[in-house]
Amino acid sequence: MKVLLTGSAGQLGRHLRERVPGSIELICSARNGGDYPCDLVDENAVLNMLDQLQPDAVINAAAWTAVDDAEDEGELAFRLNSDLPALLADWCSEHDTVLLTYSTDYVFRGQPGRAWREHDATAPVSAYGQSKLAGEQAVLSSGARAFLVRTAWVYSALAGNFLSAILARAARGENLRVVSDQVGSPTWAGELARASWVLLQRCADELKQPELVHIAGRGSMSWYQFATLAVSRAVAAGVIEQAVEVTPIASSDWPQKAQRPAWSVLDCERYEQCTGGGLMDIETSLSACLSQWDNWTC
Ligand SMILES: NC(=O)c1ccc[n+]([C@@H]2O[C@H](COP(=O)([O-])OP(=O)(O)OC[C@H]3O[C@@H](n4cnc5c(N)ncnc54)[C@H](OP(=O)(O)O)[C@@H]3O)[C@@H](O)[C@H]2O)c1
Repeated sequence: MKVLLTGSAGQLGRHLRERVPGSIELICSARNGGDYPCDLVDENAVLNMLDQLQPDAVINAAAWTAVDDAEDEGELAFRLNSDLPALLADWCSEHDTVLLTYSTDYVFRGQPGRAWREHDATAPVSAYGQSKLAGEQAVLSSGARAFLVRTAWVYSALAGNFLSAILARAARGENLRVVSDQVGSPTWAGELARASWVLLQRCADELKQPELVHIAGRGSMSWYQFATLAVSRAVAAGVIEQAVEVTPIASSDWPQKAQRPAWSVLDCERYEQCTGGGLMDIETSLSACLSQWDNWTC
């Protein structure tokens, strides 16, 4: 199977590349690199790439992910998070090609009293969430054979995510103040990549229409609980030398431009039913990430 991966230099893109199954011929596209460099806001360039490569499947790991900046740069966020998935879905629909693209827990607001399921009502509280929801709606109405994978709180050893940021500060001996009134499903990019390949390989043949699927770390935690666990496990794994203090704070004590949902826990039962496979829990995947830390940061 020939698979085109867009966003191949991003956090998830790099983990998808690392875990590519042997049976897949992977063609990587990044803004300035990979096998096929492409600026994904250039519609003609995207269509030329697809026409030239004629992939059997497209995995779109590219996105506008700067949640706070999206409040001021909504137009760019919508181009990446809505127009691009729409374009890919239309091309895939016309060419009977499978699409796997990603969305977010930030499409939700409120507290359903349980983990969010795929068809719960959406109501994003941020411009980023709105742009991702618009992308979902475009893919769902395209009729393409598409997996719309919602994930949450993605972390890795790479720079630019919550875990690597707090451990960098802890390594310098800085104590941490971390929000305790937002609860979600921290997801290791390595596990998300593994589970994405399983979904594509086991379930693409039966896919007839767009399907929403949640893939996230199993369980739930606040950012504060996750930071506390991460610091103690990072000491045990030798990633940092000494523990630092982690103090819980309210979201109102950590002002950010974009609002975040207070409850972001994703129910992943549908993924497990579809693939017949499981997902790692939050603790196990955190330990797995920390055990490979140096391979990703050296
Ligand atoms: N990170 C999270 O916590 C989280 C949570 C929920 C859902 N998600 C979703 O998961 C997916 C993967 O996220 P991630 O964490 O891997 O994000 P990421 O590290 O920010 O990767 C996004 C990639 O998209 C690329 N990109 C952006 N604009 C582009 C353009 N015009 N042309 C070509 N490439 C462009 C970026 O390249 P440049 O670096 O060159 O800009 C980057 O490599 C996204 O759909 C995201 O919305 C992420």
